[in-house]
Amino acid sequence: MALPPAFLEELRARTPLAQLIGRKTRLARNGRQWKGCCPFHNEKTPSFYVYDDHFHCFGCGAHGDAITFLMRGEGASFPEAVERLAREAGLEVPKPTPEAAARERRTRDLHAVLAAAEAAYRRRLRQPEGRAALDYLRRRGLTEETIERFGLGWSGEGRGALAAELRAEGIEPAQLVEAGLMKPRDPDRPEAGLSDMFFGRVMFPIRDRRGRTISFGGRILGDGQPKYVNGPETALFQKRRSLYGLDQAREGVFRGAVLLVVEGYMDVIALHQAGFTGAVAPLGTALTAEQLEALWQISPEPVLSFDGDAAGARAAARAAELALPLLAPERSLKLAMLAGGEDPDTLILKGGSRAFAAVLEAARPLSVALYDLLAEGRRLETPEQRAALRHRLEAAARAIPDKALAAEYRRALLDRLFAGSRRGGPARPGAAPPRRSPVDPEAIRLERARNLLAILLRHPALLPEVEEPFAALDLPEGDCTALRAGMLRFLAEAPLLDSAALMDQLDQYGLGAAMAWALRPQGLSAASLQEAQPAEALDGWWHFFGLLRGEAELVADRDAAQLLLAETNDATAQARLIRLTEALAALRGGDPEQGLRV
Ligand code: UTP
Ligand code: MN
Repeated sequence: MALPPAFLEELRARTPLAQLIGRKTRLARNGRQWKGCCPFHNEKTPSFYVYDDHFHCFGCGAHGDAITFLMRGEGASFPEAVERLAREAGLEVPKPTPEAAARERRTRDLHAVLAAAEAAYRRRLRQPEGRAALDYLRRRGLTEETIERFGLGWSGEGRGALAAELRAEGIEPAQLVEAGLMKPRDPDRPEAGLSDMFFGRVMFPIRDRRGRTISFGGRILGDGQPKYVNGPETALFQKRRSLYGLDQAREGVFRGAVLLVVEGYMDVIALHQAGFTGAVAPLGTALTAEQLEALWQISPEPVLSFDGDAAGARAAARAAELALPLLAPERSLKLAMLAGGEDPDTLILKGGSRAFAAVLEAARPLSVALYDLLAEGRRLETPEQRAALRHRLEAAARAIPDKALAAEYRRALLDRLFAGSRRGGPARPGAAPPRRSPVDPEAIRLERARNLLAILLRHPALLPEVEEPFAALDLPEGDCTALRAGMLRFLAEAPLLDSAALMDQLDQYGLGAAMAWALRPQGLSAASLQEAQPAEALDGWWHFFGLLRGEAELVADRDAAQLLLAETNDATAQARLIRLTEALAALRGGDPEQGLRV
């Protein structure tokens, strides 16, 4: 039974790691961390560091927290290690309550029920009863591979057939109700029995981000109402948190695809088949804040696509309104508008991938598209009309919490307004974009580099650890490269890696102004604060390193390091592999303890 994460967090926080490890190996202060000979491999010169909440050996790559230390160092099992640390910290290990255990068992069972149902639907598609459905999918242009990849199936005609089939696998009808596959025929009269949620429909498994089926959508063959039926909310399935296709899109995006939100299931499937493997869709509702958050965990700038008609423009305006208060320098959007009457599926059927690629190509950053959404349908002939729009634009910019970004948006929006009124007529949609958009990739790159440098200015003790990748990183020319050169020189010469000493030195090198720029507080992450813990600062550093290096390059670096390690099996190669793996994890934000998001 898993322990509550909050308890483990508390346990780690209450365990003085240096003290625990100091019993095994002699540690000496080294700036804000401790250093000693690694207890896990034989060494004479110390390359083992102990930070507040983790240890890391640059010799053998050993890495972990207090719990792992006891497991590795003393062969303790996980529960034993937790028990011991808890005793020393004066904490009680929470007993698994029967309720918690039951809840966990039910969740596990529910996943199994949905997996069994999916298998049954998929089998049916291949039997004579599923023939019409299979033909329908083929007629819509889906290949065998696509049908398999998305797990499409046929519900059967209902009348309890699924329950009968799954009973043979030990699944009770009550579990099918819990899984959202059956419902009471009449909620007031339980004796009336259960009926199937889905019958006579092509089945689309809806999966969570890890690829586990959590519900289904079902489409009628041909015309008829309702066209789609979706499973109800259950313990596993919350519509507002789920996105159709997210599991596959995560893969796709990691391989370089654009993260793309469309409207329908069939659109997602057609897009994936056409090579746009970053496509997802909400589940028949407007996009929610939760879904936006899920998107930003995968990509800083997902593209939302909308129909080119008035309803599409309204939906885009709603999405923009939802997004503004959530925007940050690393969390933006692009908007793509489809031509009237087409959805991505029909567009690809008619024009192939090229047609949709052109739509993606024309996607505009929110900061640019927003003006048109807000100015849509307004006349701008009188000062009063222009003032009213100006208020609207300013209010939109004010909705952005990040002050620097809000100022950029305000300027971009007002630029457009003034550009429009200077011509003396109504602003045309698609009029000249602002001179410098707040999502200008160069500006973002500079901001990331500034964060990376600020962390080292405040935490120069990290320099030895990051020296090599830092020295090799491609940074914007100018202040950034000058500061780096200064810091590396300081590292080579200074007896003590202390922030005040570093800044004095940089001042003497004539880098005072560059330093002031790098430390301008607006837009800096918490990792660059003086108070940040070394581990936090280091995680932050790798985060920005990953963003600057780029995911594809990091993946390549990591693969190369893996090969090198396999060939040489030496400690440097191993340490390098660990660093790159961490950078990748921090970049992907997969591990909430590592992923620092700004
Ligand atoms: P669409 O009608 O645009 O879906 O509805 P689609 O995927 O393009 O459908 P076809 O198969 O090509 O005709 C968009 C989404 O809205 C939800 C579904 O999630 C659908 O994918 N929807 C639509 C429903 O939930 N119920 C409906 O009756 C219709
Ligand atoms: Mn469609």
